[in-house]
Amino acid sequence: MTLFQGIPVCIKGTGIALPERIMTNDDLSRMVETNDQWIRERTGIAERRIASPDERTSVFAERAARSALHDAGMTPDDVDMIIVATNSPDMLFPGVAPTIQGALGATRAGAFDLQSGCTGGVYALTVGVSGISCGLWENVLVVGSETISRLVDWTDRNTCVLFGDGAGAVVLSRSRVGDGRFLSAELRSDGTKSDYLTLPAGLALHPASHETVDKRMHYVTMKGNDVFKFVNRVIPVFLEEYCESSGLVLDDIDWWFFHQANRRIIERTAARLGIPIEKVVINIEHYGNTSAASLFIALNEFLEEKRLQKAQKVLFTAFGAGMTYGGIIYEA
Ligand code: COA
Repeated sequence: MTLFQGIPVCIKGTGIALPERIMTNDDLSRMVETNDQWIRERTGIAERRIASPDERTSVFAERAARSALHDAGMTPDDVDMIIVATNSPDMLFPGVAPTIQGALGATRAGAFDLQSGCTGGVYALTVGVSGISCGLWENVLVVGSETISRLVDWTDRNTCVLFGDGAGAVVLSRSRVGDGRFLSAELRSDGTKSDYLTLPAGLALHPASHETVDKRMHYVTMKGNDVFKFVNRVIPVFLEEYCESSGLVLDDIDWWFFHQANRRIIERTAARLGIPIEKVVINIEHYGNTSAASLFIALNEFLEEKRLQKAQKVLFTAFGAGMTYGGIIYEA
């Protein structure tokens, strides 16, 4: 079952927070053997935002959350639950969510982190919507926040050119008359591909040691080609099945929000499904892959540009470490 059956849930507000520092492809070419042309052609990325030393995931998460609450016309006291999707928390515990719950003074709210690779935003939205839909919560703050730059090996050109930092937040609430509503969600995983994207050391499997540091095991490792092939093989089929199980055809979707991992992947998926590229929201050029934050950053920009019309349908989809993937559909 993919359809939400309970209380309808809408998006009440959105916000983002981005580091000020912009790192261009030319900047990168002075750090590793790469160049602007290669990065643009293979990924569609021109620049990304990088956190300054005093910034961290909770800093962006809090800023994005404040902005989303302001947009929703709410105060922290209105929030019942805070969910932060992140793969680069300040530390393993306490989580980013309780950290920002305290900083915001959201005294009534529960708080937890959700880690599901770059699909974290879709997973977190689904959990938030489900909690409201079944009557448990009234207002949920969902945040995707990353400082992936701290986990990237800046000597590895295969990975460091791809990622960027930043946060996006969404306030979810019970729908009132005239509000939009989430229609359905589908979450999947293929754990047999768990070696495609990893951060191997620092925890139970490989506790931090001189050896793990020497072997650079505290950085993101990625089988880029395998991820590329996995996504091209799995995601188009998934999206077709998901739309069908939601009682929709691909054409019913007005706007497609793909995880901003690689422009070529997005364009290929759209082409395979016959989706006109004008219906696809793409902002990877300026931010790179901001992991669990990517969909929320794109959504905030899109809403600020007032491109979403009443009753239009929006599909958010992502894939990431796990390999996890999923989708969630919203009707404005
Ligand atoms: N600059 C210049 N050359 C680079 C480079 C860089 N930053 N990174 C890799 N190369 C080189 C490789 O070494 C290779 O050289 P070789 O042919 O001499 O061995 C060549 O470019 C092609 O490498 P390849 O890995 O086949 O490139 P690709 O077309 O698959 O693009 C990715 C690489 C990483 C951009 C692409 O595979 C990708 O985007 N995969 C998905 C990754 C992803 O989405 N990750 C996040 C998941 S949430």
